Amino acid sequence: MKVTLFAALLAIAGSVSAHPASAKRQDIDTTVLNFALTLEHLEARFYADGLSQFDAGAFEACGFPDWVRGRIAQIADHEASHVEFLTGALGSGATAECSYNFPYTDPTSFVALATILEQVGSSAYTGAASLLTDKGYLTAAAAILSIESRHQTWLASAAQTGYPWSTGYETPLDGNLVYTLAAAFITSCPSSNPALPFTAFPAVTATGTIAAGSTLQLSFDAGSTPGPYYGAFFSGLNTTFATINSDATVMIPSDLVGTVYMVVSTNNTAVADANTVAGPLVLPIPYDQSAPGSPLASV
Ligand SMILES: *[C@@H]1O[C@H](CO)[C@@H](O)[C@H](O)[C@H]1NC(C)=O
Ligand SMILES: *[C@@H]1O[C@H](CO)[C@@H](O)[C@H](O)[C@H]1NC(C)=O
Repeated sequence: MKVTLFAALLAIAGSVSAHPASAKRQDIDTTVLNFALTLEHLEARFYADGLSQFDAGAFEACGFPDWVRGRIAQIADHEASHVEFLTGALGSGATAECSYNFPYTDPTSFVALATILEQVGSSAYTGAASLLTDKGYLTAAAAILSIESRHQTWLASAAQTGYPWSTGYETPLDGNLVYTLAAAFITSCPSSNPALPFTAFPAVTATGTIAAGSTLQLSFDAGSTPGPYYGAFFSGLNTTFATINSDATVMIPSDLVGTVYMVVSTNNTAVADANTVAGPLVLPIPYDQSAPGSPLASV
């Protein structure tokens, strides 16, 4: 596996020098790869710390079969390998590991957070794909994306005995939205790390039952941005809008299933960074396993 990765890395390095791109092109790719590396560092540290904290007995005490921890150890190896791969591709310009604060308390909440991190990773690679200018990097990114998505699927369906996918399409997230979600776990970074051209949006939190058609009570700080505000729900390649009422409640659209992201926007037809007020919020919307695509009304 490692040999294959390094062979791919050498091929990429070769292709870069064989047809020199303009400085601008390479800058974009360097930024995107460093952003990917920022996420891979976060994931690698998350798994290494969780595994050192929770032994086989701790996983068993939370009801997990004994093979769950072993597969998570394989995922940890994959993430460490992604860090090594991207660091090798970026050379001296590679961003370094930061310090993190992950809010899990036991193997159950660790696995739940792992599922979300892998989902966000899959959305990040999907969203960033269009930014890469070098097709060699695009293939390498696809090779990583596919595995992040397999991790998410295995964690969600085998380890958590939940649903393996959401709709027929992965949901892309753009850089600022991914950065917002990642920054929530980052406490500090080495000052020598290259600056990333992303900014985090204010947080949005919710209380209430997460289910299609259910009403959530939101909490967010809109600053001086006047309303009305809309909840924009990203699912696959679709965005569905719902009005946020003056008491900050919003109804989750009734046709949504699986993991959906919601941002608060002042626009109800087209979300852009300029009209995004807060978010994203990650909403795992349950669905009837025996009838994929149809929401489970009683949840
Ligand atoms: C968009 O939503 C429709 C209806 O909910 C669904 O059938 C379709 O698969 C979705 N398309 C994408 C690309 O997510
Ligand atoms: C939303 O954005 C679109 C595209 O920029 C624009 O045409 C429309 O007027 C905006 N709507 C609102 C409510 O601001």
